[in-house]
Amino acid sequence: MIDRIPDGQFLSGKSVLITGGTGSLGNKLVSLLLEHAAPRRIIVFSRDEFKQFTMAEKFRAHSQVLRFFLGDVRDKDRLKRAFEGVDYVIHAAALKQVPAAEYNPFEFVKTNVLGAENVIDAAIDAGIQRVAALSTDKAANPINLYGATKLCSDKLFVAGNSYSGARQTRFAIARYGNVVGSRGSVIPFFLQRRATGVLPITHPEMTRFWITLDQAARFVLNALHAMRGGEIFVPKIPSMRVVDLARLIGPDCRHEIVGIRPGEKLHEMMVEPEAGHNTLDCGTHYIIQPVLNFWDPAVNGYDVMRSCPAGFSYTSGANDRWVEPEDMKRMILELNLPGAEDLHQAWSGPAPRTPHPAPATAG
Ligand SMILES: NC(=O)c1ccc[n+]([C@@H]2O[C@H](COP(=O)([O-])OP(=O)(O)OC[C@H]3O[C@@H](n4cnc5c(N)ncnc54)[C@H](OP(=O)(O)O)[C@@H]3O)[C@@H](O)[C@H]2O)c1
Repeated sequence: MIDRIPDGQFLSGKSVLITGGTGSLGNKLVSLLLEHAAPRRIIVFSRDEFKQFTMAEKFRAHSQVLRFFLGDVRDKDRLKRAFEGVDYVIHAAALKQVPAAEYNPFEFVKTNVLGAENVIDAAIDAGIQRVAALSTDKAANPINLYGATKLCSDKLFVAGNSYSGARQTRFAIARYGNVVGSRGSVIPFFLQRRATGVLPITHPEMTRFWITLDQAARFVLNALHAMRGGEIFVPKIPSMRVVDLARLIGPDCRHEIVGIRPGEKLHEMMVEPEAGHNTLDCGTHYIIQPVLNFWDPAVNGYDVMRSCPAGFSYTSGANDRWVEPEDMKRMILELNLPGAEDLHQAWSGPAPRTPHPAPATAG
């Protein structure tokens, strides 16, 4: 589910709106939709006119299909106007920097929580067929404000299926972990810092889930395709220790242990043990089923799927999939990030194999 593209037929002739469409995920989604589906219209909804201008230039050849709508998810009236005539919505708009959330909590609540409520209300009123909202591993048993706002958003979208009642609108969630190379994340940070000869490491055992932007976008489209309404779709993706990433990016660098920062976990989690009994193992991904009474697994065809055992959790520390160093190198090189220029040369030989850590017992 994370590498394939769903049958583009379901999007053929449809109108798809992406909130936060100028972001990393939005850009990738637009590329995939233009390449693999034949939507009637793709609407990008976001606040900053310059990002929209840049994106319009990038996709100039598709101006007949691609439209831009300036707006803020905090503004329900604007969303209602934007949603007119739209079939599917992908809700990617969010504030997402963990430290910024701790210092600006009300701003995160306004965008990530009240914005979610506005998207739900506007989608029901406009008769949208399906809404796929984005979530993060930080939303499972959250310990920081960002994760807490995304958990709240997830719960609002699940409950949105009740609010929609007899109307057709259905809501589901796609939750995943760190996107390799995303803005402000650890890979660009290590690439920038390795010239100093010192890489700060929070904790030698810290692990993270890793997914490429392309896989993330494909996963979201598959969730939009497969959803019945109320599911949290979780891809099975590999983990890597942050210290192994540091060894890869700066093999000659000294590591300075700086300690886990406020709001950070040692290992991330995508399915919390309290949701384990309600989770289905679908091979390439998990589905966390909703606990609200609108959900009928028999009607939705989920009753024949394999359940996870009670207490099951999915954490980056106890993962049975690990990123191979060669794969991480390839993913980093493909991004062409600043600071990686000389790595093309340096990484022409095979990477030293680092043993995968023993599974952690707690996430
Ligand atoms: N990147 C990751 O590692 C990661 C991992 C897991 C989940 N996710 C989730 O995936 C989604 C997309 O992430 P991304 O990496 O594409 O983020 P991104 O690159 O930061 O893009 C965020 C987008 O949201 C827009 N936006 C922000 N506030 C808005 C508002 N109030 N109203 C309308 N648009 C607004 C931004 O454009 P303007 O500033 O112009 O409005 C931008 O287009 C998010 O929901 C995030 O929580 C990301």
